[in-house]
Amino acid sequence: MNYEQAYEKLSQAGQEHVLKYYDELSEADKKELLDQVELTDFTVLQYIDKQQELTQKGAITPLAAMELPEIEADRERFVQVGLDTIKAGKVGAVLLAGGMGTRLGSDDPKGMYNIGLTKDVYIFERIITNLMDVVKMADTWVHLFIMTSDKNHEKTVKFLTEKEFFGYNKEYIHFFRQEMAPASDYTGKVYMEAKNKISNSPNGNGGWFSSMAKGGILDIVKEAGVEWLNVFAVDNVLQRIADPCFIGATIEKNCVVGAKVVKKNAPDEKVGVICLEDGRPSIVEYYELTDELMNAKNEKGEPAYYFGVILNYLFKVNELEKIVEATMPLHIVEKKIPYMDEACNLIKPESPNGYKYETLILDMIHMMDSCLPYEVVRNREFAPIKNKTGIDSVESARALCAENGIVL
Ligand code: UTP
Repeated sequence: MNYEQAYEKLSQAGQEHVLKYYDELSEADKKELLDQVELTDFTVLQYIDKQQELTQKGAITPLAAMELPEIEADRERFVQVGLDTIKAGKVGAVLLAGGMGTRLGSDDPKGMYNIGLTKDVYIFERIITNLMDVVKMADTWVHLFIMTSDKNHEKTVKFLTEKEFFGYNKEYIHFFRQEMAPASDYTGKVYMEAKNKISNSPNGNGGWFSSMAKGGILDIVKEAGVEWLNVFAVDNVLQRIADPCFIGATIEKNCVVGAKVVKKNAPDEKVGVICLEDGRPSIVEYYELTDELMNAKNEKGEPAYYFGVILNYLFKVNELEKIVEATMPLHIVEKKIPYMDEACNLIKPESPNGYKYETLILDMIHMMDSCLPYEVVRNREFAPIKNKTGIDSVESARALCAENGIVL
């Protein structure tokens, strides 16, 4: 893209200030800026005033989960179906590791965080060790697709390569990058991080499948004959990946997506809740849950919206292909965004100063025809690391690892 084309694109979006320092830049920096303008989707900025409409929910009703006793009763059969599917090479795993991990506050990718106490134990290592359990059980390598973003790709690849993928077969590891979105102030004017750089951030975890398709990764999925993708977050160090019982149950129940869920530990716990929305599977975020829904009871007298998602989903690939081009709801999220001030100093704000624009994987559930919410034991499978201390932290995850006999 040349200067004129960039100016045209920016003026259509009301963002001409991006080129304010263009004349001062070196040739290399000019090119970097023009490339960034070309790759950035500025159309998201026009939705600031439409936030409510964008995430408007339909009629919410309960969706029953497959609970632990039901799973136990059929465990043997589910495990067999799951193992057969893995052995046939039909299951792949997708690690979502493109996030910024701002709450944890480390400059490195979250997976590089060392949670060890007596030895080094990295988050990536915990994830790979967990996947290896299934690889050993099935005696079959599972393709592991790792999503990164421009902000952490090089560091992630370098780290995992240096650590020799913690013993995983590197032929089964594939990296792909998600796309970036601009970050703006509250009026929708994009921030600049430097004279040659627009402030941007990864565009949320909702674009993982379309990024796989754009990155050519879908060809590998097809060639390998992978029919199911188990997608999961980097930050849950007790995450069970390609869990045969979960896979078997989803297949046996003829669902096109399975979602691992846990019983909420309080009605107002900050997790998304699985439900039906206008009769289709859906997830209501904790901040969208009205008091009425929070206190609703089912016929057993239990909370009607009892099950929270833990970001571990099993999707059927051919159903994902049907929605790869679909537009996903945009979430406009208030965040702290580093920016260059009028005096050209980089400011790292202490409190939120603008918006990031993201799509979320949880919205994909509503695009699917059927979903099996599958209950797991919270203390066995859910130890998310979002913060350094307190709730969902390094501390709480260490305690849960100890409870599960994992030496750190
Ligand atoms: P979170 O919503 O916890 O976001 O991500 P985060 O960026 O890791 O952390 P904060 O909010 O800045 O503290 C849930 C999962 O989705 C991935 C994360 O890497 C994590 O596995 N994710 C999130 C992406 O892959 N891309 C994104 O753009 C956002």
